[in-house]
Amino acid sequence: MLNISDKEFKQLADFIKANYGIYLKDEKQTLLTGRLSNVLEEKNFTSFADYFNYIVADKTGDAVVTLIDKITTNHTFFMREVDHFNFYRDKVLPQLASHSKTKDLRTWSAGCSSGEEPYTLAMIIDEFFGMDKKWWDTKILATDISTKVLDIALKGVYTSERIATIPANWKLNYFEKLEKEKSVLISKIRNEVIYRKFNLMDKTFPFKKKFHVIFCRNVMIYFDNQTKMDLVKKFYDLMEPGGYLFIGHSESLNRNETEYKYILPSIYRKELQV
Ligand SMILES: C[S@@+](CC[C@H](N)C(=O)[O-])C[C@H]1O[C@@H](n2cnc3c(N)ncnc32)[C@H](O)[C@@H]1O
Repeated sequence: MLNISDKEFKQLADFIKANYGIYLKDEKQTLLTGRLSNVLEEKNFTSFADYFNYIVADKTGDAVVTLIDKITTNHTFFMREVDHFNFYRDKVLPQLASHSKTKDLRTWSAGCSSGEEPYTLAMIIDEFFGMDKKWWDTKILATDISTKVLDIALKGVYTSERIATIPANWKLNYFEKLEKEKSVLISKIRNEVIYRKFNLMDKTFPFKKKFHVIFCRNVMIYFDNQTKMDLVKKFYDLMEPGGYLFIGHSESLNRNETEYKYILPSIYRKELQV
């Protein structure tokens, strides 16, 4: 495996932080070299400096796509941090549904990885509305910067092991069995999720309407505090009054730094009167 010098690491880490928000502390040198070593070997680079020059010069965008796929941590699973989903089902949906005049409900899964989070939400919504679902537009926007995970999410195909944690009736109602211990989500659920490639560090957020709910869980743990709080401010501005923000269980927002009201650990709300 190629060694990375301190200067090369800093150059690459600065580039990654500036463009994708992901903050790699000095201790992450081994992790970074480990994740990128195959790429350097395949391209016959003999130093990280050469690799960096290639990334910056590449006009096709392919080099950056590969870099992002390598550096992002995409760990996720169905029903992850299940109390969030219970809160969404038991408090958020009844509240929003009873107040909605337009019968549309906009949920964004920001940093959706391979789809388990938005699909869990889609199944909850389907179950919640039941026969009335046809009167509602409850499509979920799901975004990530990694092309690799978005490709998986779009297919909606998961191994039996990955769907082991979901309730038996969901497996029955929402999945079709494929060969080789795999299952695919039925189109009724797949069609409820709109996947887009989107970098949360982009200057402009091109969304026409505000969201009622934003899930951005286990994404901002890779950002430094300033980057995180700038993003949380954008979420706040993009949220309907009364809307909810869910962040990961291991994350929190400093109450003095955000306009969001604390509801429960890792659940925040934009107050109705703002
Ligand atoms: C650990 S996964 C979390 C998935 C899911 N939200 C969950 O909690 O299970 C983090 C995801 O955030 C994405 N991500 C990291 N930085 C991002 C950025 N700047 N813009 C958009 N997505 C980003 C990664 O590609 C990765 O798929």
